[in-house]
Amino acid sequence: MKVAVRYYTRSGNTRKLAEAIAEAVGVTAQPVSVDLDEQTEILFLGSSVYAAGMDIAVKHFVEDNQNKIGTIYNFSTAALLSSTYKQMKKLAEECGVELSPREFHCRGSFGPLHKGRPNEADLAAARMFAQDICR
Ligand SMILES: Cc1cc2nc3c(=O)[nH]c(=O)nc-3n(C[C@H](O)[C@H](O)[C@H](O)COP(=O)(O)O)c2cc1C
Repeated sequence: MKVAVRYYTRSGNTRKLAEAIAEAVGVTAQPVSVDLDEQTEILFLGSSVYAAGMDIAVKHFVEDNQNKIGTIYNFSTAALLSSTYKQMKKLAEECGVELSPREFHCRGSFGPLHKGRPNEADLAAARMFAQDICR
């Protein structure tokens, strides 16, 4: 079963989750600038919100790799929003890619808000999320 982890980050919060998830399932986390190299059954895809929207690079990644993606498992960080799931759902539908209803989200630090997040507890929860999906 091919598993991959891709993420988009600006300040490193979502990369922390990506690296925890990747470590838990024995792969390497890579940014969305790196295309999938082969058919991938489970894609953990990490994103965040900037002025209520995901970065366009996430959209381009899904569009460019849609034929290689089995199922997307969304994970995200944000300061206020509950997750990027709705935006990912819209994108997945546009590209004809399956999106699992299972996702992982936690707070991400932003200025004075949520300092230290994701923290160790967040990373542990992200690892468990990924291991549960891949077992
Ligand atoms: C320019 C900018 C705009 C943001 N807008 C939002 C927002 O609209 N809603 C929200 O919940 N968080 C917002 N945030 C906070 C980020 O979503 C949060 O810090 C996230 O963890 C950043 O992830 P990253 O470090 O992986 O880029 C914004 C952050 C930045 C830098």
